[in-house]
Amino acid sequence: MKEIPIVPLWRQPLARTLYKTHKKPESRYFQLATACESLGIANRTVVFRGFDESSRVLVITDTRTAKWSALKKDPKAAICWYFTDTREQYRLSGKATLVAHDSEEHNALLTRYWHDLSNAAKCQFLWGTPGERRDDGNSLRVSAETIPDLPPSHFCLLAIDINHADYLNLRGDPQQRIRYTLNRQKQWRAIDIIP
Ligand SMILES: Cc1cc2nc3c(=O)[nH]c(=O)nc-3n(C[C@H](O)[C@H](O)[C@H](O)COP(=O)(O)O)c2cc1C
Repeated sequence: MKEIPIVPLWRQPLARTLYKTHKKPESRYFQLATACESLGIANRTVVFRGFDESSRVLVITDTRTAKWSALKKDPKAAICWYFTDTREQYRLSGKATLVAHDSEEHNALLTRYWHDLSNAAKCQFLWGTPGERRDDGNSLRVSAETIPDLPPSHFCLLAIDINHADYLNLRGDPQQRIRYTLNRQKQWRAIDIIP
């Protein structure tokens, strides 16, 4: 019998916040921090691409970026997500699984996400290697006709498996803060804490 994954306790409030703020595209942006050899810690903004069936947080990225190499060495990832409309902050941390073109299953998944992207977003993957010196502005001009039907090999996904969450709601007096922890039996527990 197929095991039904448990929905983590923090997911319902987060889904509610996402629903309330869905008209604002920026509500789908969050900051993702990773370990980094040169600086200790690195942080950047990314787009939330949904959850998978195990409630892992999905992010589209490029295997040629620093975050990919960093997560390969150390999969720990921390998300900080603030919703200006509802004045709620979610801090989620866990471990990232790197989804590249290394199996039939991953290829199919990546192809699905590639097809869902806008042409403008697809073009970004055809600009060249992120972080390399840009010596010819023309090389960044990519026309929509050259977009491949299948994703390029560097198009990839991060699937972040959350094992700790911290919710803060600035609305209300007093404010509300909840800490979500996962025990060894993989059960979530929520406790109200002083903000
Ligand atoms: C609003 C916004 C959304 C972004 N979304 C993504 C994203 O979903 N995936 C991604 O790899 N980079 C995204 N970026 C670019 C990253 O912030 C970052 O500049 C780039 O990925 C290189 O990061 P790294 O060198 O730390 O790997 C976004 C930037 C902004 C400002």
